[in-house]
Amino acid sequence: MAGIKFNYLKLYKLDTSNEKASLIGEKRFNSATYFLGAFSTELKSLSKLQNKPIQLLDVGALGENYAKEKSWITATAIDLHPTCGFVKQADFFDLPLSGIYNDNPDISVPVDGYDVIALSLVLNFVGDPVKRGEMICKSFSLLKSRLPNSNEEGTESDGSLGGYLYVVIPLPCISNSRYMNEDYYCKIFQASGFKLMASKSSPKLAFHIFRRLTSPPPKASFPKSKLRDGPALNNFTIVL
Ligand SMILES: C[S@@+](CC[C@H](N)C(=O)[O-])C[C@H]1O[C@@H](n2cnc3c(N)ncnc32)[C@H](O)[C@@H]1O
Repeated sequence: MAGIKFNYLKLYKLDTSNEKASLIGEKRFNSATYFLGAFSTELKSLSKLQNKPIQLLDVGALGENYAKEKSWITATAIDLHPTCGFVKQADFFDLPLSGIYNDNPDISVPVDGYDVIALSLVLNFVGDPVKRGEMICKSFSLLKSRLPNSNEEGTESDGSLGGYLYVVIPLPCISNSRYMNEDYYCKIFQASGFKLMASKSSPKLAFHIFRRLTSPPPKASFPKSKLRDGPALNNFTIVL
């Protein structure tokens, strides 16, 4: 974790006295931009089909990232240590699979799950590789199992996919780790029950949009395995 945190701070030039501060001398990164750019047409029609706003859970949010989309996205923003009133205090791992969150009755997980979960720069923030794997699996459980806007196969037996999982992570966690590469990263999500829909990378960040399959796949194990070695590599990994 120390290595990754160091890289993270270095990468984003964050003020170390306040890791969650805006980028120094740069506009604050808006995590929603890539997701909305790629999927807003699809999501708007989903909102129309369902006749209600998209239910989105923004984990580790610094602010109201979906303010402009309020008419068709209802965002619940949570963080362990919120820095603004819009973001509610909650631990993602303690959220119930549906209904009221015990520690904060302002948060209620939709009975049939979220349409979208956003994990922007959160997986790398979780220090334990096993907990990172758990975060992906819990996202599966918190997402709707089926949405009416897809003809793509969710499993062999049904015709639709479920909710969207949007993940942003510092690029070096994937491109410069002894224990990770793009193929392995996507296989971990596949093994957790997700289908890759879109991805892109910028010089600093990797963006992936997955969709939940209706049924979970058979359990697969992804231990910490060395995929390459070299002096300038980091040790980021996710364990399933
Ligand atoms: C780097 S910041 C997120 C930055 C922001 N999402 C962005 O894209 O710029 C990571 C945040 O994840 C939050 N976080 C980590 N684990 C969490 C958990 N289990 N539940 C809720 N928030 C968590 C931390 O408190 C921290 O504020």
